[in-house]
Amino acid sequence: MNIGIIGWGFVGQATGKGLGTNKKNKIFVYDKQRTSPLTLEEVVKASEFIFICVPTPMHSDYSGMSMAIVEEVAVQIAKVAGGTDKIAIVKSTVLPGLTQSFIKKYPKVNWAMNPEFLTQNNANKDFLNTARTVIGASSKEVGEKIKKLYQTIYPKNLPYYIMDVTSAELTKYMSNNMLAAKVLIADEFYFLAKKVGANYEDVRKAVEADPRIGTHLRVPGPDGDVGFGGACFPKDMIGILGLARKLKVDMSALSAIWQKYLKIRKNRDWEHMASAFREKKK
Ligand SMILES: NC(=O)c1ccc[n+]([C@@H]2O[C@H](COP(=O)([O-])OP(=O)(O)OC[C@H]3O[C@@H](n4cnc5c(N)ncnc54)[C@H](O)[C@@H]3O)[C@@H](O)[C@H]2O)c1
Repeated sequence: MNIGIIGWGFVGQATGKGLGTNKKNKIFVYDKQRTSPLTLEEVVKASEFIFICVPTPMHSDYSGMSMAIVEEVAVQIAKVAGGTDKIAIVKSTVLPGLTQSFIKKYPKVNWAMNPEFLTQNNANKDFLNTARTVIGASSKEVGEKIKKLYQTIYPKNLPYYIMDVTSAELTKYMSNNMLAAKVLIADEFYFLAKKVGANYEDVRKAVEADPRIGTHLRVPGPDGDVGFGGACFPKDMIGILGLARKLKVDMSALSAIWQKYLKIRKNRDWEHMASAFREKKK
């Protein structure tokens, strides 16, 4: 199948290279900041499936997350894909409601939302070894086509969760925020363990052995600091808290986790990542 990738970063490359492991899949790439031989229009024209893998940075005032780059790309894709069988798939992490707004604005395009769960340190391998694939689709037919695409590379027994686009968007945020929350609770138990004279490593291993709890309790984390590192957890927490504020939904538990996080986290690594942290445009 012919596959277009818009945005050749961690997610775009893992998706392109991963789907390209089946030689029947041909990959066409467009990236604004890298030398791409093709234009975005050419990539969309050549492809049956177009994956949007561009950044969704948090605002540098911590008020939320910017969807501007995805929106800009969506307009361009719609111009070429409208009225065809092509499927435009949002793979970037986007706020619940964005893909539905595309369905409304550009009804002649087949839209889908397919969140990505890979980790940056192990992007290509994580993509190929995913535990499940989540597909949000504007119709049953579109969802089935994307499932068939993934079946060209994934084992037959991989579970697929096919749902509407907004539910797929929310699945990504809930996953990341649940994992991030576990990290913070683990940090608190780590400091408590020191006070009561317990061996935190023994405690952690025994707690992680419960499949209902699982991983992410190591303290300090893989980057040697407490709290979660990298770009995704902080921006996905800020993104969902911004949305909850706007919709007047009480997420004070998550908000308390964010406040505690800022208190204990020394290394704000995400503030130095251009694609994850951007000044808000007025
Ligand atoms: N990195 C992760 O671990 C991870 C995991 C899951 C989901 N995500 C999400 O996936 C999305 C992409 O993340 P990433 O880590 O791959 O980002 P990245 O910064 O590594 O890559 C994004 C790429 O998009 C390109 N780009 C920017 N604007 C563009 C435009 N207008 N047109 C074409 N290309 C453009 C950039 O040049 C860059 O190469 C984000 O929404 C992120 O939250 C990331």
